[in-house]
Amino acid sequence: MCGIVGYIGKQQAPSILIDGLTKLEYRGYDSAGVAIFDGSDINVLKTKGRLSNLIKLVIEHPVSGTLGIGHTRWATHGAPSDINAHPHMSEDSEIAVVHNGIIENYMEIKEELLKSGWHFVSETDSEIIACIIDKYYKDGMSFEDAVFKAVARLEGSYALGIICKDCPEKLIAVRKGSPLVIGKGNGENFIASDIPAILNYTREVYFLEEDEIAVITEDSIAIYDKDRNAVNRDIYHVTWDIEAAEKSGYAHFMLKEIHEQPKIVRETILKRVPESGGIDLDNIKLGKEELDNIDRIYVVACGTAYYAGLIGKHLIEKICRIPVISEVASEFRYKDPILDERTLVIVVSQSGETADTLEALRISKRHGARVLAIVNAVGSSIAREADDVFYILAGPEIAVASTKAYSAQVAAMYILTCHIALTLGKMSEEEFEVIRAELYSLPSKIEVILNNKSVEKKLAAKYKDVRNVFFIGRGLDYLVSQEGSLKLKEIAYLHSEAYAAGELKHGPIAMIDENTLVVAIAAQEDLIEKTISNIKEVKARGANTIAIAMKGNTKIADVADDVIYIPRTMGILAPILANIPDQLFAYYMAINLGTDIDKPRNLAKSVTVE
Ligand code: AGP
Repeated sequence: MCGIVGYIGKQQAPSILIDGLTKLEYRGYDSAGVAIFDGSDINVLKTKGRLSNLIKLVIEHPVSGTLGIGHTRWATHGAPSDINAHPHMSEDSEIAVVHNGIIENYMEIKEELLKSGWHFVSETDSEIIACIIDKYYKDGMSFEDAVFKAVARLEGSYALGIICKDCPEKLIAVRKGSPLVIGKGNGENFIASDIPAILNYTREVYFLEEDEIAVITEDSIAIYDKDRNAVNRDIYHVTWDIEAAEKSGYAHFMLKEIHEQPKIVRETILKRVPESGGIDLDNIKLGKEELDNIDRIYVVACGTAYYAGLIGKHLIEKICRIPVISEVASEFRYKDPILDERTLVIVVSQSGETADTLEALRISKRHGARVLAIVNAVGSSIAREADDVFYILAGPEIAVASTKAYSAQVAAMYILTCHIALTLGKMSEEEFEVIRAELYSLPSKIEVILNNKSVEKKLAAKYKDVRNVFFIGRGLDYLVSQEGSLKLKEIAYLHSEAYAAGELKHGPIAMIDENTLVVAIAAQEDLIEKTISNIKEVKARGANTIAIAMKGNTKIADVADDVIYIPRTMGILAPILANIPDQLFAYYMAINLGTDIDKPRNLAKSVTVE
């Protein structure tokens, strides 16, 4: 989704803004721009396409100034174009605005302004923000007053960076529904959609909360709520380094992040399942008393986080015997779900900013349900608003396609399941000890799979011309199939579907022919005979088949054309291992197809609009 950067201080703003926008490229965008105050006017440079186009423009039309705002746009209203790119200016270039989000009532405001003689140049909802602020400013209000009045009229979601030609000592930031951080410097201050954009300049940040407006000068940051009461906000010190958000020699962030999985899974497990014994959920309030008061659990998320959540649903039901309903957040929020104070809602999100998941959280809380968030981004909206947070410690995930966050989320699901089962007496200490030992061995088993990645590379070369792929499996394997299929769609743009293996013959088998590749996840050994039958069925109809199975399973090699072996583990822990070959296969397929792996077309890392 769109990225915002803003600067006020003594340094040259253009290079700081472009550096910040570069760090936000991972969010996905189709155009970019900056607005710089040069001492007398606001100059806007913006263009369709990659940041390299903007950099070229800035070199060709150099502009200097120590106040500015920058933006990478992911189109919602109006096609990607130079005109629709941000920043947007009011008609006489008095006010410049960058916006992340959607203004739902923009037509109403636009019509009102049109009637008063205003003109618009873009098709965006965002342009009306600059114009309505300017209207109030021209009516005689101060810049600040005009922003407060205009913002009160906006419906929808928005993070805004705003500057005014007549007030170059101020940069105003607004947040409702879309994230925004303020970076505190020494004689300079920053705003950004995400921390990496400003981490080269400061580690001290304030997270702007819902409906807050910050008035920022080079020496001060004043935060107000929507009624204009001053807000005291604790500063947050960022402890991770910018290197964590850089490629470290890997060709792509995705490959780097795939390779980080042993370390991340190890850290996530060791923090919660210490070698000294027990499970340490820290301050998460999920003891016997709370669990006895829960009748049902929802797992709500989007995309990959949802597929990780499905593993949690399966395990909690199987082991803890509590009914768990899984819902994608975009459906959950509009279906009047059954929620009360005896419901636990587990929301899962890497970014902690996904609009639908955040709204699902809020609906759940409004109905009295307790919300536990499994989140990666520290201090994100979902983390701040949930009753309890289980941080997965995956570090910044930059590639749009989620890999390491999925593994850490699945590890979190294992830990949570064991905690609930032990607390409710559904798992004995002895049973847990067996699982604990196996959990500790997962990171080195992931390493084994990564060390053999030439297997997936060769298979991707063998099947490089395939255009239709089915991922099949049973039980937990089916859940892994869904994530495997999503990865291939996202980064290789291939048509792929995940199907419960037993469901194939109820329709989709009609599509199978010699041009189809079927990837069968077959790590659940209690179901292996059934999966083998399904592999035989698709082979009989001409499909090429790859199986992912545990080492030592020789039967499968007699049936599938190719087998990717993963180290042996307990069936319930197999998903975290069985998913890694899918990640690698998708990666190498995408390499062969020459796609933009880290920034796939049409996708955004953090989906902050619904
Ligand atoms: C994952 O590869 C996708 N980019 C996407 O499905 C993602 O998982 C989804 O948008 C949810 O994001 P979140 O985890 O940040 O909430």
